[in-house]
Amino acid sequence: MSVAEDIRSGETDEASLTLRGARHDLPVRRGTLGPDVIDITSLYQDTDCFTYDPGFTSTASCESKITYIDGDKGILLYRGYPIDQLAEHCTFLETAYLLLYGELPTAEQYEAFKDRITRHTMVHEQMNRFFTGFRRDAHPMAIMVGVVGALSAFYHDSIDIRDPEQREMASVRMIAKMPTIAAMAYKYSAGQPFVYPKNDLDYSANFLRMCFAVPCEEFEVDPVLTRAMRRIFILHADHEQNASTSTVRLAGSSGANPFACISAGIACLWGPAHGGANEAALTMLQEVGTVDRIPEYIQRAKDKNDPFRLMGFGHRVYKNYDPRAKIMQKTCHEVLDAVGHHDDPILKVALELERIALSDDYFIQKKLYPNIDFYSGITLKALGFPTDMFTVLFAIARTVGWIAQWKEMIGDPLQRIGRPRQLYTGPTERAYVPMKDR
Ligand code: ACO
Repeated sequence: MSVAEDIRSGETDEASLTLRGARHDLPVRRGTLGPDVIDITSLYQDTDCFTYDPGFTSTASCESKITYIDGDKGILLYRGYPIDQLAEHCTFLETAYLLLYGELPTAEQYEAFKDRITRHTMVHEQMNRFFTGFRRDAHPMAIMVGVVGALSAFYHDSIDIRDPEQREMASVRMIAKMPTIAAMAYKYSAGQPFVYPKNDLDYSANFLRMCFAVPCEEFEVDPVLTRAMRRIFILHADHEQNASTSTVRLAGSSGANPFACISAGIACLWGPAHGGANEAALTMLQEVGTVDRIPEYIQRAKDKNDPFRLMGFGHRVYKNYDPRAKIMQKTCHEVLDAVGHHDDPILKVALELERIALSDDYFIQKKLYPNIDFYSGITLKALGFPTDMFTVLFAIARTVGWIAQWKEMIGDPLQRIGRPRQLYTGPTERAYVPMKDR
């Protein structure tokens, strides 16, 4: 079989595919930004063929108006707004409102939204008992998957996805309760009592307090650390159709309730190729240890026979400096100064490693730039979090993106259950052989 695919250049809005001598025209759809897409929805019906694209490297799984990434230019926009502007000027809930509803809120809308979220930060008191069912050394992501999924067993009045009010209520509940649940997971592992949310604090300050306050002394919220936490949340809030977001959409496409869908997203995020990379980057920097050992690691990263990679470098989409990494680097300096670690040897290693890698031919030619994880591990450690909490913090932030994407999908009139096809390469039909004859 010979397959020739030819996208006509110029102004035409059609691609043609020649398959077994027959030509098939396919419409080309144009977004507001980014590459055009060839619409293949009728391909199977017209040609009896599927497309094959493991890892979805060339496949747009949906239409979306939420987040745009230009990986070659290093651009990330939420609803059209550059990430650096949002990270500099917005609160996390302002960003959440933007992602969820498409526009930045007016002062009145913001106050109403903030008030609504803030009044849902507590979890059902009975949920406390869930935590004691886990081993003390349970990974907090394991606890998150379980407890967030269990929200659907507590909030029966917000699981009917056909009702827009219930969808809204589920969204508010999850955004509000995620920091509380995450902090409870942390407190449980530390053997400390849970700290209830405090509604006069903002989202990020409240989270830091729930994690680090203890009943025997007053807790002072540090404005520099709060700003860092806010920025980290904003930078991680959405990243279009990544693995965990696609998981949430796929789970939601069957009509599963939103708590179950977000729990599925958390499970996917847990993987080291996705949410776990910041921990790997920090471990690597600690292993390098001192600036004089950097050339050895650079050499190893370039060696084809060595599986070692510079963690926190390279990205599937960004072939330029990850715009989030720049903000993360600045935030990292601020936090280390605030906690008195400005001479942190790990930061020195990171800065020098970045400098050397960015001037090295191997990294330049392969377009390997620092990604967000390169500096976020050092920053989170300086904020006081143990490494197994890093992905949990990512999950708190990404919950907003997951919900925005889930809501968009439910509201899409073209939405159908997600059901990829396959290229089958297993045995052809054969008759059952009784056990005694095998
Ligand atoms: N160090 C050294 N070489 C690298 C690195 C790295 N960090 N990343 C990629 N390369 C090389 C590869 O060896 C490959 O070389 P080759 O063409 O000679 O075979 C080339 O660059 C392309 O790499 P791929 O793995 O094909 O690129 P892909 O887009 O599939 O991978 C990924 C991207 C997984 C992020 C990769 O760059 C990597 O492993 N980085 C380190 C881990 C990391 O930091 N992950 C966090 C990603 S950000 C996030 O998830 C929030």
